[in-house]
Amino acid sequence: MDKTIYKNRRNNLKDILPENSVLLIPGADLQYRNADSTFPFRQDSSFYYMSGFCEPESLIAIVNNKDGINSIMFVPPKDKLKEIWDGYRAGPIGAVEDFLFDKAFDNIQIDSMLPDILYGSEQVLYPIGKKSGFDQKVIDWTTAASSKDRHSKSINIIDASSLIGNARLIKDDHEIDLIKKACDISAEAHITAMKSVKKGDLEQHVESLYIHEFSKRGARYPAYNPIVAGGENACVLHYVENNQALNGSDLLLVDAGCEYEMYAADITRTFPISGKFSEEQLKVYEIVLEAMNAAIECVRPGNSIMEPQEISEKVITKGLVKIGLLDGDPEELHKSGAYKDFYMHKIGHWLGLDVHDAGDYMEGDDFMKFKPGMITTIEPGIYISSSMNVDDKWKGIGVRIEDDILVTDDGNENLTKKVPSDPREIESLMS
Ligand code: GLY
Ligand code: MN
Ligand code: MN
Repeated sequence: MDKTIYKNRRNNLKDILPENSVLLIPGADLQYRNADSTFPFRQDSSFYYMSGFCEPESLIAIVNNKDGINSIMFVPPKDKLKEIWDGYRAGPIGAVEDFLFDKAFDNIQIDSMLPDILYGSEQVLYPIGKKSGFDQKVIDWTTAASSKDRHSKSINIIDASSLIGNARLIKDDHEIDLIKKACDISAEAHITAMKSVKKGDLEQHVESLYIHEFSKRGARYPAYNPIVAGGENACVLHYVENNQALNGSDLLLVDAGCEYEMYAADITRTFPISGKFSEEQLKVYEIVLEAMNAAIECVRPGNSIMEPQEISEKVITKGLVKIGLLDGDPEELHKSGAYKDFYMHKIGHWLGLDVHDAGDYMEGDDFMKFKPGMITTIEPGIYISSSMNVDDKWKGIGVRIEDDILVTDDGNENLTKKVPSDPREIESLMS
């Protein structure tokens, strides 16, 4: 595949990197699960964003000086024996020829070469605190670079998390296409699940259906551990045990999205295992859906990210008062945060290479404003666990609905609307 897009991203750093600086982006390492068994390798998202390169133990150094941007990559060395066991390595020649870096070296040269690369620069930027052991390495390389000439300017170490994250926040057309594909695949899986789920199934059977549906459409892995939560399990926000049998009178909450060519989708649907919502389930569901629709309306250029948050809190508070789960004046209850017993998480997050994607939520002292090319999730919920002091008929109802919303020039596009969220449409799909 043509890697020009990644080279252009590196060259674009000219506009945002300080003069006379070096940006370091470490790649991910292979992670051990137990003994010598490893997790499937997943490249670090920022590293991938700047390189398209998927080998572990690599490092990018981007030098910005008066000559312009110079991109250097350190990669695993070519090694005939290791390649027989573990597969092809691009090596430094491949990193230059195929991945379009200006220079590339074996990663075993990192410690000896980095002080020379940093020497003479005024700032070294990297994502501080993100990779275990890397902070100390940067300090050591910087100290070694500074000690080359006691009389040279000192090198300041700066956190690059916001700089890289905010570059990733606005998605380009290539990224939007991949996220749309991830959303389509994930939506298809939710539709298949709605059509096939039945009482007595284990939550993990439903989970495996999603993984299968993702994989057969080209997305081998989920973007995060799927949450498949029958009944009250939905009230555990990050429930991932997924091992209980489904009860015919319960709702099933599934929060599952695939990763397609490194990009995430993040969809939640809540549907009745019997195929029909009970009266109480429907009342709670409709409040969440109203909050969802009102929040999506607020996702448009120029609006603060707090607008969907606030409207979702207000709609949910009003709805809870209407069905008798909160008592009092909705405005006062909103101000006091009474809704937080039922709706305790935020309305959404950025979506991209990571499911909780990089990018700030504040600009200076203000909340970020939506801009075209951003993608956010919108995911209101109401969770009524059996330990709450409410009428028994409400207990064990947990509802969340989550869609992925692209900010466009004049509003937004819901990338996951293909999977129904309207309760009547869900019931008809399940019948
Ligand atoms: N799937 C994780 C989340 O919705 O934030
Ligand atoms: Mn989410
Ligand atoms: Mn989710």
